[in-house]
Amino acid sequence: MSLTRSQSKSETLCRVFFSEGNNDLPKIVVNSAWSSAEIYLHGAHVTHFQKKNEPPVLWMSQLSNFDPKKPIRGGIPIIFPWFGGRKEPMHGFARLQAWELLEMSYVLDGCVQLRLGLPEMAPSATVPAFSAELFVTVGKTLAMELVITNSSKENFVFEDCFHSYFAVSDISAISITGLKGITYIDTCDNRAQKVESEEEIKIAAETDRIYLNTSSTVEILDPKWQRRIRVEKSGSLSTVVWNPWIAKAQRMSDFGDEEYLQMLCVESGNVAENMISLPPGKSSSLRLELSTLGL
Ligand code: BG6
Repeated sequence: MSLTRSQSKSETLCRVFFSEGNNDLPKIVVNSAWSSAEIYLHGAHVTHFQKKNEPPVLWMSQLSNFDPKKPIRGGIPIIFPWFGGRKEPMHGFARLQAWELLEMSYVLDGCVQLRLGLPEMAPSATVPAFSAELFVTVGKTLAMELVITNSSKENFVFEDCFHSYFAVSDISAISITGLKGITYIDTCDNRAQKVESEEEIKIAAETDRIYLNTSSTVEILDPKWQRRIRVEKSGSLSTVVWNPWIAKAQRMSDFGDEEYLQMLCVESGNVAENMISLPPGKSSSLRLELSTLGL
């Protein structure tokens, strides 16, 4: 791991240290002048991002496993190289692997940037030779970039997604903007294709939708907390909106029965018919930037 010491101002505004997380899993803690963040090496999983004097941006389940064999529930799981259960394990293996910290550098207009890598895997029938790197930049905003490089001689077909869990004051009070007119797969209705008719989407039942062919910025309006969470992305054509509601929350052992009231997933990636076919030698980049604003 190398440490670039070029931005002395960022250095003074920023403290970064390694710590033992839950169940002794290693995590990186970042405290900046504007925000704090925590990143587990297990899954390269951001479990915490919070601006000073605001509620957390990311939601974490109180019942999450912190087990090297299981995914963490909450924060931002990295979904790769497939989304959902079309292969085992569900949502791919990237969220179950211990990633490596490759580099840490202080950056201008921010605080710190971490570069993490998925340890090399032998090519198999499931995946050709590839590399995966994740850049996490913590400052006034949280920015993430997942870079997949196809080092094989064949096309690499995969799905990727930042499965972001957001903290909300009260699910019945919030609304989601930025998806009007977009076609989506309604997973709760036999995967029927529908077109979003609402300017402001409200959540009042189990919701599991894959919005296709959209690179739009989405905002979560939270009047009780007087804030908007802005989800900006690039290199992404799918947005998934998920809340398990009552019955599914009860079925999940790592999710509290009432926790669906305080969370909402707005996920940014390339899934279902937006899956990526990456030619040999090429790289793909999925970028996400999370910020908060007043109402
Ligand atoms: C969402 C899917 O992305 O992830 C849902 O659309 C799924 O169908 C949810 O239930 C959670 O998945 P998991 O594997 O983390 O329990």
